[in-house]
Amino acid sequence: MKHIVVLSGAGMSAESGISTFRDADGLWEGHDVMEVATPEGFRKNPSLVYDFYNQRRKQLFDVKPNKGHQLLAELEKNYQISIITQNVDDLHERAGSTKVLHLHGELRKARSTVDSQYILNWEKDLTEKNKDPNGYPLRPHIVWFGEAVPALSEAIEVIETADIIVIIGTSLQVYPAASLYEYASENTDVFYIDPNPADGINASIQLIKKGASEGIKELIQLLK
Ligand code: APR
Repeated sequence: MKHIVVLSGAGMSAESGISTFRDADGLWEGHDVMEVATPEGFRKNPSLVYDFYNQRRKQLFDVKPNKGHQLLAELEKNYQISIITQNVDDLHERAGSTKVLHLHGELRKARSTVDSQYILNWEKDLTEKNKDPNGYPLRPHIVWFGEAVPALSEAIEVIETADIIVIIGTSLQVYPAASLYEYASENTDVFYIDPNPADGINASIQLIKKGASEGIKELIQLLK
């Protein structure tokens, strides 16, 4: 079976009704990124940050995987599929994808502010009152700007074994995620599905200028 590695971003979940970050109606509107997505912001105003991610977590219960997520899950019948996502939602998993690596963390998890290995599933609201066994507060299990990406080396290993790479719905603005596809071996076919793709991408990348669902349908035809 050929190994397809999918690199997904916020555009993957756009058709499920979750706002992207950098499109006009993006999630950051009304929220200063430095306040809600940096360790400094969290230190300055923890309750604002807890509340921001509590809202995002609640939203997960109102949204469903879209056709694009479902098609990727179905592709596991014919391909080995690994998904590396920048998204903190769980829509790939809920669609049935079995191998999903979250580069930027997960909304449905919390972790200790002190022991980064102490991570637990979290469904309800998270506040300063929630503590780890040593009494240190928990925080959202999200990789904020300026923080290391713990899943990076695993992501690179996965990409190195790809026969085909499919980038979906990302503006390729945030590193290291944006440069991950460059770890693919030379003969790997790279597709990029996005209605408004990033400028200046490598000429060898095959562009499918469509939304995720329609773009994945087209990809499936091209792979036949
Ligand atoms: N289908 C596919 N792509 C779409 C769709 C759609 N229906 N709608 C919009 N897009 C595309 C946009 O054209 C854009 O290129 O999705 C992309 C979204 O880009 P961003 O909002 O920048 O999201 P992303 O690239 O995932 O952001 C990366 O930034 O703030 C951080 O940690 C956060 O993981 C996030 C990272």
